[in-house]
Amino acid sequence: MKAIHLFSTCLSLLAGMISVSAQPLTPRQRADRLLEKMTLEEKIGQMNQISDKSKLTGPVTERGFSSLAELVEKGMAGSLLNVTDPKAIRAYQEAALRSRLGIPLIFGLDVIHGMRTIAPIPLGEAASFDLEAIERSARWAATETAASGIHWTFAPMVDVCVDARWGRVMEGAGEDPYYGSAVARARVKGFQGDDLSAANTIMACCKHFAAYGAAVSGKDYNSVDMSRGHFYNYYMPPYKAAAEAGVATFMNAFNDFDGVPCTGNAFLLQELLRERWQYPGFVVSDWNSVGEMVPHGYAADRREAAAAAADAGCDMEMCSLCYFDHLKELVESGRVPEKKIDDAVRRILTAKFALGLFDDPMRYCDTLRMRRTVLSDEIRAAARDMAKRSVVLLKNDRRVLPLPADIRSIALVGPLCDSQTDMKGGWAGEGVVDSIVTLRRALTDRGYTVHFAEGYDPATGRERDTGAAIRAARSSDAVIVAVGERASDSGEAKSRGELNLPAGQQELVKKLVDTGKPVVVLVMGGRPLIFNGIRECAPAILFTWWLGTEAGNAMCDVIFGEYNPSGKLPMTFPAHMGQLPIYYYHKSTGRPADPAKSHTTRFIDIENDPAYPFGYGLSYTTFSVSAPRLEKAVLAPGEETRALVTVTNTGERAGEEVVQLYVRDRFASVTRPVKELRGFRKVMLAPGESRTLEFPVTKEQLGFYTNDGKFVVEPGDFDIMAGNSSDNLLRTTLTVTQQ
Ligand code: NOJ
Repeated sequence: MKAIHLFSTCLSLLAGMISVSAQPLTPRQRADRLLEKMTLEEKIGQMNQISDKSKLTGPVTERGFSSLAELVEKGMAGSLLNVTDPKAIRAYQEAALRSRLGIPLIFGLDVIHGMRTIAPIPLGEAASFDLEAIERSARWAATETAASGIHWTFAPMVDVCVDARWGRVMEGAGEDPYYGSAVARARVKGFQGDDLSAANTIMACCKHFAAYGAAVSGKDYNSVDMSRGHFYNYYMPPYKAAAEAGVATFMNAFNDFDGVPCTGNAFLLQELLRERWQYPGFVVSDWNSVGEMVPHGYAADRREAAAAAADAGCDMEMCSLCYFDHLKELVESGRVPEKKIDDAVRRILTAKFALGLFDDPMRYCDTLRMRRTVLSDEIRAAARDMAKRSVVLLKNDRRVLPLPADIRSIALVGPLCDSQTDMKGGWAGEGVVDSIVTLRRALTDRGYTVHFAEGYDPATGRERDTGAAIRAARSSDAVIVAVGERASDSGEAKSRGELNLPAGQQELVKKLVDTGKPVVVLVMGGRPLIFNGIRECAPAILFTWWLGTEAGNAMCDVIFGEYNPSGKLPMTFPAHMGQLPIYYYHKSTGRPADPAKSHTTRFIDIENDPAYPFGYGLSYTTFSVSAPRLEKAVLAPGEETRALVTVTNTGERAGEEVVQLYVRDRFASVTRPVKELRGFRKVMLAPGESRTLEFPVTKEQLGFYTNDGKFVVEPGDFDIMAGNSSDNLLRTTLTVTQQ
């Protein structure tokens, strides 16, 4: 954003010095000029986004159009979504160019973790704690997407979520607002680069504004009820980070916020986004979310819904056609001021100019480029690199992993090991299923003798033909067993009331361990799952999420030690369903949990501790992390310092560690969490090597939002903590004085 402002300031300065006509106009100036020529119908046309009928990513809209192309030619659509066939894209674009003003369409699609080459699901990528890799992955996704004729992805989803029942956790970066903000910035930069008109960039869309991840009981589309203070501190930061990173568009959330559906919520869209953050991009509704303000009980009918959304500042309507049907009359009757329409259309046209669509509307329709780019060796190598970085080693007793080089035969158990559809993961763009390398295929390609057995029914998780699995184990050097949920069990509309793995899967693992063979358990899933039985009996556990096109190869890289696992959990893994929602940055409460006492903040039948905490993940080597040392332990208001943390590889292999810095404000005018992530660094260390890392301690680390949204640092004592997991920290004290 800053760059754009600077650019336009320079342009105006230059304009004063030399003839204005010699200067190229900015996208915004070009949009203004075009706007002057448009009729009201044409303006409203730009605000409609319509889905191709062949691919629906939401409930069927109220009516299908007999000819979408005809509608486009009449200038009645500004954008289409879910058109993926390059020939169809070209044909629709040609229709748009035949409209009176020849305004090109924007084509949008959910490119969540890859277009045709599929990377790990976003929650898996987040486990890498590797921002450069995450940015690279988004750039590759953009490269393939742009080469396929599409200009706009509905990603990143930056919704914070502390409840793994919500199926969409797979699309985000997990529970932490600070880390979520860093991932949001990396993904926006990866998709958009520095120039939206470049051949390998596309527009990103920050979604879902706001607090969609806080659906009550993790039930998708459910209401959200939270205080403003909670929102400012724990849910808002990633949206703000995306806006500051220059994300081209925002998408509304389905839920209500303060009782007002987000699509018609002026606090969110006007006050926060446009006034406080000065956000210049455009806002699209979610699928049908304008019309859904009626069943929400907020708008009396679809006409009122259109008025509420347009008034609040929702610029483009996805699918419900309330603008299409009612906006013209609403403006003509004076119910919605035409200025609102002009503002919305100006923002949409500015994006089209920035994409370069007016200069060359077919610039993204290049089938030769598409053939050269899609599933290229380079992109596959990048997907494999991202995938191995996403794996989290949860347990490794007796150093079962990595499996030794002299192993020849492997019992491979579980249908998930051999399922291309599952390894692809949910929301997988136009991922090419046939190109997915399963674990079975990767092991076979490496020359192992693979004894495959299903062991359980993929649909129910009940044991099936256990005998074959046990026989395979007995006749092999090692066992790899995959358990978990199906890829289709996570994603939109995939909330689950039960996260415990089926008893059949857990009992099967126990029987395999009882054979006495080395057993490696791979847990696959799109969210934190509960598997206490396996935690107890299995010597080695890897959490692999859904790793995408190169899943099998990446798993082999980790299993055989060619890559030393470095992932960390971006969400707390509960030990019991009753603990949900669960997150590490909880408050202390007036009666902090104490298992020795009654009447404290705990359960009587289950423990408070999670199975695995946020930030946890092992390596094939070991690390020690020192307590933080402060360059200055006492700060005057406004002063900053640095925390120095020494990390040492105390094992025998090279490996990467994610060093984490947490802060606690001990007493404040509003209660603060027991700890909050405020810095992290991932470093590679040779055996025996030490490095001292510097973490800034500034107002960003020490401050918080008051209930009315002011960011403050209050004087007093702070705990500054460092370690390699949120539950393994050493601390020191910092004081901020009154003056
Ligand atoms: C509904 C989802 O909530 C949103 O994230 C997605 O981008 C749209 N459908 C379009 O598919």
